[in-house]
Amino acid sequence: MDWENAFASRAGRMKASEIRELLKLLDRPEIISFAGGIPDPDLFPAEAFRKAMNDIFAEGRAEAALQYSISEGYVPLRQWIAAQMAALGIPCGIDNIVITSGSQQALDYLGKLMLSPGDTALVTWPTYLGALGAFNAYEPRYDRLIANGNRSAADYAEAASKAGSKVKFAYMSVDFANPTGETFNRQAREAILDLADRLDIAVIEDAAYQALRYDGETIPPVLALEIARKGDIEKCRTLYCGSFSKTLAPGLRTGWVCGASEAIRKLVLLKQAGDLHNSTLNQMAIHSVAEAQFGAQVKKIRAAYSARRDAMLKALKRHMPKGVQWTHPEGGMFVWITLPSRMNGAALLARSLETEKVAFVPGGAFFADGSGANTIRLSFSRADERTIEEGIARLGRLIAAA
Ligand SMILES: Cc1ncc(COP(=O)(O)O)c(C=O)c1O
Repeated sequence: MDWENAFASRAGRMKASEIRELLKLLDRPEIISFAGGIPDPDLFPAEAFRKAMNDIFAEGRAEAALQYSISEGYVPLRQWIAAQMAALGIPCGIDNIVITSGSQQALDYLGKLMLSPGDTALVTWPTYLGALGAFNAYEPRYDRLIANGNRSAADYAEAASKAGSKVKFAYMSVDFANPTGETFNRQAREAILDLADRLDIAVIEDAAYQALRYDGETIPPVLALEIARKGDIEKCRTLYCGSFSKTLAPGLRTGWVCGASEAIRKLVLLKQAGDLHNSTLNQMAIHSVAEAQFGAQVKKIRAAYSARRDAMLKALKRHMPKGVQWTHPEGGMFVWITLPSRMNGAALLARSLETEKVAFVPGGAFFADGSGANTIRLSFSRADERTIEEGIARLGRLIAAA
């Protein structure tokens, strides 16, 4: 069988993710890993989920939990999310919310909904690798979205038109971004809205890390700023993608999209065609645990991760040689390192795994244009403070010798 002949043209842009390959390294005990940006399982509210699942079966809700349900998602969960959204400055109803299998599925569905082959998606350089993976299946071209940049709407439109294309949306990871750890400030969010209004395009606001702020001032979501301008979510072009993966449990694959009901209704049709609906049992359990202790859980993980963030920043200051720069995230899980321009993150990783036994993600994969070879992403979410100090000391030694 010549499989290449059997595949559609879109399969040509599907590549194995470097990060997924690297996750296999986490199991090797001699490696200190700053690679996978995943939550620390010791922080999962496992006992609360055990109780929630037991209660569902003990309280005569088993039939509902085990049955098919609606594609929009479990109503009490959407009600809970709507209240959370309102607290963030996004007053909305349950018709403005669809539950998805993590925010990853939301990105896939939004690509499917809006991108025809050759359409332009605006993304930051670098951007979340999983977003590129999701959008690539719909064969877009990419152009560079610059926060607070001075490129005009006309310039973006002209660049697209020259390529026989049309700009369809701007996508960004707004809070403590994956991979840079950086946050779009209020001015940058307003500027994105101005740009989107002029281009008449959608804005995809990836808020996967929104709750994980450790210091600094909370900045209203792009969707909240747009509602403040236009008075009503139904008039807004921003689609907010939320997730329970970083706060409660990624294994239960529960995220959501919040936005104008016309767009949400289309996403519900995609959900129906794609997998009918999220697991009913998982949605019920997420709802119970969120209702009982979301605030306390967020407080707990913020305390743990912020201490690790502090440990990493302190260790970087102590151990990095001259010429190395890094970000100072106010939340999330990542610090982004820029090495001297002659260095290559992928080559450094190969050497690191042989000698110093520290894993990280080379940054090049996060750039839609293949640049960024001298960058690396470090995650501080899984290692304790002593291990972070040791791992960064080793990494500093490796970079100094390179
Ligand atoms: C920026 C960003 N968006 C979306 C996702 C997808 O997460 P999930 O599908 O678990 O909600 C991730 C996961 O790491 C992420 O980093």
